[in-house]
Amino acid sequence: MTDDLNNSRFLKAVRGEETDATPVWLMRQAGRYMVEYRTLREQHSILDIIKTPELAREVTLQPIEAFDLDAAIIFADILPPLEGMGLMLEFMKGEGPVLQPPVRDASDVDRLTTPPPEESLWFTLDAIKLTRQALNERGVPLIGFSGAPFTLASYAIEGGSSKHHIEVKRFMMGQNEAWHRLMGMLAEVVGSYLKAQAAAGAHVVQIFDSWVGALSPADYKTHVLPYTQRAVEIAREGGVPIIHFGTDTAGMLDLIKETGVDVIGVDWRIDLNKAWDIIGHDTPIMGNLDPVALFAPWENLKHRIQTVLDQAEGRPGHIFNLGHGILPQTPVDNVKRLVDFVHDYTNQ
Ligand code: CP3
Repeated sequence: MTDDLNNSRFLKAVRGEETDATPVWLMRQAGRYMVEYRTLREQHSILDIIKTPELAREVTLQPIEAFDLDAAIIFADILPPLEGMGLMLEFMKGEGPVLQPPVRDASDVDRLTTPPPEESLWFTLDAIKLTRQALNERGVPLIGFSGAPFTLASYAIEGGSSKHHIEVKRFMMGQNEAWHRLMGMLAEVVGSYLKAQAAAGAHVVQIFDSWVGALSPADYKTHVLPYTQRAVEIAREGGVPIIHFGTDTAGMLDLIKETGVDVIGVDWRIDLNKAWDIIGHDTPIMGNLDPVALFAPWENLKHRIQTVLDQAEGRPGHIFNLGHGILPQTPVDNVKRLVDFVHDYTNQ
């Protein structure tokens, strides 16, 4: 890296180094809880924003302008790589994402392709380049991201969001050859996408395995871990640190450590100090306030933030975040107070 953002709080914490205060950013920090975002969304669909680098830059910067955040995350989504592989992607109002036709057997896997990211995801790579310029002036590092092979397989096979993950598990349990072929393709797509994002200027990349906690540790180990490892191995060629995030992962953190990433994100279903004991205190950790805590009255929210920070005991390598994405109904005032409080409380 050539710029002095190397010494920013966020990048230091990602490397496990001491910082002057705990860095904080919030998953889904650009989104509907902000009036600036809702206003722009009246004119443009979410896919328009993602596919127009100038708009993606504008939205990425909205929370950076409004709050004293220590990192920006490029405005994109985990699903466009599946569009690149040949599925049709739509965001339906009130229903969430829809992918068609869903991948249900070996012949559906045969039809998928693995184009290079410069071809199928050029818009996010361009958005990263543009946004980096604006962020350098503000001294804020940029995070790139991708869905992990399992979470992408889940959307491709279910055809959208899913509560019980029946189709993806049925596929995984019943169609061994097709599963491993699909996951192998996804590992290549995810790895090369992350590598390209690093080349475009992302300081750090994050892998979202949002739904992996739906699996037993044994299934994770056999059917998923080797492919996340492969994606990480390819992404490593980009030369930037890698964060892993998943929900409901308390029972598999030892396995997630085996992915080989640099930072592990955890949700609120496990105490931060317990999670840290499992992954080892030499591995930086990210988390883990319940996003719903932002709906509590300030004194109560403050107490909950303090609890997370006290569990970290000021050890180096803690990046404060929510345990999952910020919710659309979140009161904006509490976001501002949260960010400032994390800095004030940990400032030394
Ligand atoms: O963090 C950020 O600020 C960057 C932007 C970002 C978005 N999606 C924008 C978005 C990121 C990091 C994501 C990741 C993502 N997308 C995940 C992994 C993280 C997680 O929360 O587990 C997942 C599972 C998705 C898939 C997805 N995208 C769903 C299920 C939905 C619909 C949900 C809903 O609330 O309607 C989306 C749409 C989406 N992606 C929105 C945003 C801000 C909703 C806003 C809109 O319609 O304008």
